[in-house]
Amino acid sequence: MFQEPTRLNPGPYPLLIVATMTVLIQDLSTAGGVNAWMYHHSIDPPRTWSSARTWCQQRYTDMVAIQNQGEIAYLNQMLPSNPSYYWIGIRKVAGVWTWVGTNRSLTPEAQNWAVGEPNHPLEDCVEMYVKREKDTAKWNDERCNKKKGTVCYTASCSEGSCGNHADCVETIGNFTCQCHPGFLSPRCEEAVTCDALSVPQHGRLQCHGSYGPSRFNSSCRFHCDLGYSVEGPEWLQCQASGRWDHPAPRCQVEQCAALKPTSDRLLRTCLHPIANDSFNSTCAFSCEEGFELSGQSVTICDHAGRWTAEVPTCSVIACAPISPPAMGNMTCVDSLAPFSFGSSCSLTCLEGYTLAGSHTLACSASGQWSQPRPTCLAVRCIGLKVPPHAVLGCQDPIGVFSYGSTCTLHCEEGFNLIGSNTTQCLAQGRWSGQLPVCQAVQCSVLSAPPHGSLSCSNPHGEFSFSSRCALTCDEGFQPNGTAHTECSSLGSWSQEVPQCLAVQCSVLSAPPHGSLSCSNPNGEFSFSSRCALTCDEGFLPNGTAHTECSSLGSWSQEVPRCLAVQCSVLSAPPHGSLSCSNPHGEFSFSSRCALTCDEGFLPNGTAHTECSSLGSWSQEVLLCLAVQCSVLSAPPHGSLSCSNPHGEFSFSSRCALTCDEGFLPNGTAHTECSSLGSWSQEVPRCLAVQCSVLSAPPHGSLSCSNPHGEFSFSSRCALTCDEGFLPNGTAHTECSSLGSWSQEVPRCLARSCPLLVTAPHHGWMNCSHPHSSFSYASHCDLGCSEGFRLSGTPSINCNTSGDWSGVMPTCKVVQCEASWLAGLTASPLSLNCSHPRGNFSFGSRCRFACAGAYSLNGTEELLCSSSGRWSAALPTCAEVGTPLWSAVLMYSGAGAASLAVLLCAVGAGLLVAKRFKKKGIMDEDNSFWEERENPEF
Ligand SMILES: *[C@@H]1O[C@H](CO)[C@@H](O)[C@H](O)[C@H]1NC(C)=O
Ligand SMILES: *[C@@H]1O[C@H](CO)[C@@H](O)[C@H](O)[C@H]1NC(C)=O
Ligand SMILES: *[C@@H]1O[C@H](CO)[C@@H](O)[C@H](O)[C@H]1NC(C)=O
Ligand SMILES: *[C@@H]1O[C@H](CO)[C@@H](O)[C@H](O)[C@H]1NC(C)=O
Ligand SMILES: *[C@@H]1O[C@H](CO)[C@@H](O)[C@H](O)[C@H]1NC(C)=O
Ligand SMILES: *[C@@H]1O[C@H](CO)[C@@H](O)[C@H](O)[C@H]1NC(C)=O
Repeated sequence: MFQEPTRLNPGPYPLLIVATMTVLIQDLSTAGGVNAWMYHHSIDPPRTWSSARTWCQQRYTDMVAIQNQGEIAYLNQMLPSNPSYYWIGIRKVAGVWTWVGTNRSLTPEAQNWAVGEPNHPLEDCVEMYVKREKDTAKWNDERCNKKKGTVCYTASCSEGSCGNHADCVETIGNFTCQCHPGFLSPRCEEAVTCDALSVPQHGRLQCHGSYGPSRFNSSCRFHCDLGYSVEGPEWLQCQASGRWDHPAPRCQVEQCAALKPTSDRLLRTCLHPIANDSFNSTCAFSCEEGFELSGQSVTICDHAGRWTAEVPTCSVIACAPISPPAMGNMTCVDSLAPFSFGSSCSLTCLEGYTLAGSHTLACSASGQWSQPRPTCLAVRCIGLKVPPHAVLGCQDPIGVFSYGSTCTLHCEEGFNLIGSNTTQCLAQGRWSGQLPVCQAVQCSVLSAPPHGSLSCSNPHGEFSFSSRCALTCDEGFQPNGTAHTECSSLGSWSQEVPQCLAVQCSVLSAPPHGSLSCSNPNGEFSFSSRCALTCDEGFLPNGTAHTECSSLGSWSQEVPRCLAVQCSVLSAPPHGSLSCSNPHGEFSFSSRCALTCDEGFLPNGTAHTECSSLGSWSQEVLLCLAVQCSVLSAPPHGSLSCSNPHGEFSFSSRCALTCDEGFLPNGTAHTECSSLGSWSQEVPRCLAVQCSVLSAPPHGSLSCSNPHGEFSFSSRCALTCDEGFLPNGTAHTECSSLGSWSQEVPRCLARSCPLLVTAPHHGWMNCSHPHSSFSYASHCDLGCSEGFRLSGTPSINCNTSGDWSGVMPTCKVVQCEASWLAGLTASPLSLNCSHPRGNFSFGSRCRFACAGAYSLNGTEELLCSSSGRWSAALPTCAEVGTPLWSAVLMYSGAGAASLAVLLCAVGAGLLVAKRFKKKGIMDEDNSFWEERENPEF
């Protein structure tokens, strides 16, 4: 509650000058309604300090409190001059000057004492010298029970004047909102804004604040991506000054320690995707040639700034140790380590041995020696080749054909040794002398005889030891002795060379009908003699006409025979037979043939032929052809099917006629071609099948279509009935292929009208039916019984469409006139009626009576006749000598009103009316009446 002004800073306020809106109000009861810090004063009556304060607290907020010099000047200006001056809200409490409104002690800065004041220990209250010439507006301590002017104030601050983040500060006639740190705007509802923070590279930002993002008191937390760390404070807060409490941090990539090399031989390749030796940097290690890596070959700087592996080391590659070969020596030079990469070894052999392999071995980078280790081998001479026809014998003290070996050579039989027979392998690896050769013994030179040739095999040289020669005679010639000879080891031939003689064939002679002629180059009928055969005219050799004597002594060919020339084989044609004469064999030169044909067939040319010397017939082959009949064609609506054993329409052809459906042939359907070329029968025609003749029924007519003649196959007839008649079945019929109608012709029946079952009630009906009952042209007369009259048409007819010309009439009972009833209401005349058929209608009977002193003049009973008239005139009631009622009744229809006036005077009239009412005569629809009076109707 803001009953009292709040003073946050008791020190001097800036001067507030309020000229217009502030009102100094006198003690008037009308001073309410202004909700601002306002001053109110009262000088009449003057009050003690306590009663002045009570007066203020009762009407306003409290006794005036002074916050600054501006207020003092203002009060001095606005308060009216008062000789006793005015109390203000300061009092000495427990010896301390205190603002009573706030219970705060007066500070030296706020003091405004007049010169020399305060000056008395018993003066506990304070007055202000308003408008005093000396010490104007200054304060003076006074005794509290003195009576002075009263000055009060009303507070301006109220709940809700300022927002939650402010203190309400009273000013003269108004208030101001003093914002708490971090808030702005007149009501201090808006939080101070800091500059929005930007998301760091490689990081994220999480902010929240109760007054909105980047507002006063909001805080943000920085996070960095994997491999990055926050450089600077992680948390930032927006301060009341609108600035963040720290500069925004950055995300710094994690850094790994620089790698230290372990060896000169180590090689390194690094990738730094982000920065040197930082997160995700990768280094791959390898060693120089000849060194191997021990340890991980790759290391990576992880997200925590650590290398995943130590730096590896390099060590030299070693080869397997080697030893010198047998019968040899070795010298090695090692640049790095014994038997390691860079080592080189030289090898030598003892005298008399040679090194097999490389003289120098080097250890390679792969840990292998450059060459396989060599060996020392004894010196060898070239291997001795044993010459032909010789035998070698050697002695080998060290090895085969090696240093010190001695070899001796011997020749076979038939060969002579030429040269030295011994040699030796020397220390230099060569033989002491050449090996000797073995040469064959020689025979005399041979030559071939005429018609022959020599072929020799000379294993050891021409015509020398073991040469063999064979004589070959030319084709058609033979040697006259042994054909082979051989050179012996002594140099002589085993045999002399023979002569070559021609081969002989058999003697030849000529066949019958032929002659031979021969040529003989090497003697008659011997090798290469040729003979030719010549045959007589009409004959030919039955093989090759030439033969020759072969080198084997046989003829190439037997001498053929001379055979008669052949013509083609003849066979009898179908339906015929051949007869032939054959002087030199069947169907050969000079054969003759004649043809004979069967019955019904004729030869197609000359019947004789002969075989000529050239092998051809004088006449082509003959045929027997069937006799022809005339060509037939099918009649309309029919088709022919023929069997033709010997050709179309020829001897023994048979034709059958088939008529289409609905048609029949008018004669024998088959015919045959005779051996004389004529048909047994003419082809008949196809005629349409006939149906019975139709005639139209009574009241109808027929219309027919006849595609193939009247009332025959596929004729269609339609029945049409006269007006008012209908066919009693399908109106169409058709003549089938079997000659029957699809349908009988129906009859034409008169069209039916609805059946009239009963005559009208109380009436009669007399109908005549010219065709059938209640059908077209039926006529009905209608009438009513006595006492009833017809309502509607007196007769109806059944028309062509099967409807009645009108509706059935009704019979209504005849009514009698009863308008006089109205006049009876005021009359002494009473009536009692029975109505057998309806109120006041044919048969109704009414009895009349008169009341009291009246007597009836007329008939006692009226009957309604069948003509609708009452049997007599309506009676009247008459008083003896006074025919008043009679007169009244006569005018009752016209003068009902005047009658009513009269009736009022007459008591008897009321009685009559009552009775009529009870009986309900006036009510035409009164069922009560009908039930009581006409129960049997
Ligand atoms: C005023 O303050 C004094 C001490 O500061 C205290 O003793 C006294 O009770 C207070 N009076 C009221 C009415 O609050
Ligand atoms: C009171 O102060 C408020 C804000 O300080 C100002 O808007 C308003 O006009 C002042 N009223 C008067 C009557 O001076
Ligand atoms: C600022 O935030 C702190 C902690 O979140 C809280 O204790 C304090 O009350 C807040 N200040 C204001 C003025 O909201
Ligand atoms: C670090 O390397 C990993 C694997 O290669 C990759 O997925 C990741 O994106 C890299 N990080 C950065 C910040 O380059
Ligand atoms: C019905 O009519 C016919 C011919 O019109 C007549 O002869 C016959 O008497 C009539 N019958 C009656 C009961 O009227
Ligand atoms: C009865 O009525 C007739 C005809 O209306 C009349 O001539 C006659 O005088 C009447 N008789 C009496 C006794 O009134």
